[in-house]
Amino acid sequence: VWIVDNVVDKQRIYPQIKEAARLLQCGEVVAFPTETVYGLGADATNTTAVEKIFAAKGRPSDNPLIVHIARREQLESIVSDVPDIADTLIERFWPGPLTLILPKKEGVISDRVTAGLSTVAVRMPAHPVALALIEESGLPLAAPSANRSGRPSPTTAAHVLADLDGRIAGVVDGGETGIGVESTVLDCTAKVPTILRPGGITKETLAEVIGTVADGSAVTNEQEAPKSPGMKYTHYAPKSPMMIVYGSPSFLQTLVDKQQALGKKVGVLTTEENLAFYRADAVLACGSRHDLHTVASHLYDTLRKFDQTDVDIIYSESFPTEGIGTAIMNRLQKAAGHQVIVEGETHF
Ligand code: TXA
Ligand code: MG
Repeated sequence: VWIVDNVVDKQRIYPQIKEAARLLQCGEVVAFPTETVYGLGADATNTTAVEKIFAAKGRPSDNPLIVHIARREQLESIVSDVPDIADTLIERFWPGPLTLILPKKEGVISDRVTAGLSTVAVRMPAHPVALALIEESGLPLAAPSANRSGRPSPTTAAHVLADLDGRIAGVVDGGETGIGVESTVLDCTAKVPTILRPGGITKETLAEVIGTVADGSAVTNEQEAPKSPGMKYTHYAPKSPMMIVYGSPSFLQTLVDKQQALGKKVGVLTTEENLAFYRADAVLACGSRHDLHTVASHLYDTLRKFDQTDVDIIYSESFPTEGIGTAIMNRLQKAAGHQVIVEGETHF
């Protein structure tokens, strides 16, 4: 169901996959599409290759990477144990947008991939190009999202090149990714399986299969060491400040009008339904409110588009935190630095 099958012009893409696999075997870094976002891949067993990922992205070295595999058997050489619950999840959701944190087996995956942790993050992407590339290279591929650190994750090859052209060996162009937000990261080493990052597979869906699931993705207490190192980093923030508005479109419009009266240029992030309603300097729609999957798939592209405008401030509509909406709001809140405005509460 997650397989993106509309992208592959096999005649065109196969030579790209072959060439990319060869580069990966030589220890180079290559970007490739997955069903979530583009990844920046390198041989996960080769420390020099993995270091090139951190260098190209400008990524802090203590933020570990996800290892991508194409077959269930590859897991045995990477992890020391597969708990029953993980087995059940693999059976049900792989290939797919679910990353599992499992105990790491010593000696195969580079310690640079796992940033010295005793656990490793693994996923099997549901994208024909990603799977073919992993198979062709014969390697487990370490791959974070293929953006410069601090930029939105890329959902097209053009996004990858905008951030990384000249810094990587290449990108396999498989068209637009499908889901548009990153995989769900689930810690299977915790007593209760814990979501460290909401994503393509929702908490509701996980709970149907394995019962209780904890949500560890909320902002952690600063004193506490974060379970997922990625949680402590500042994420994408647009060039101009962004605020999330909880309220009606007419309330949001009053906020726009106030800023414009102060001489500011204002952007609005909305959906198709309300696109014609707003009067502002840049009104950008991402998908339809009636299908939040369309919002997820266009979210990062829309955020990148705001950076090409000259707005001083962006107001974003909010979305229900159910299903994929949880992942959408998680990314929006990070982009907005958790600044919110609620209709009916006093601000200013
Ligand atoms: O959809 C995705 O997951 C994409 C595609 C390319 O597969 N990849 C991706 O990777 O989003 P990245 O590196 O941008 O995010 C990986 C997240 C980070 O938050 C990182 O801290 C966490 O996974 N992570 C990796 N290894 C971990 C570990 N051993 N324990 C806890 N968290 C881990
Ligand atoms: Mg990322």
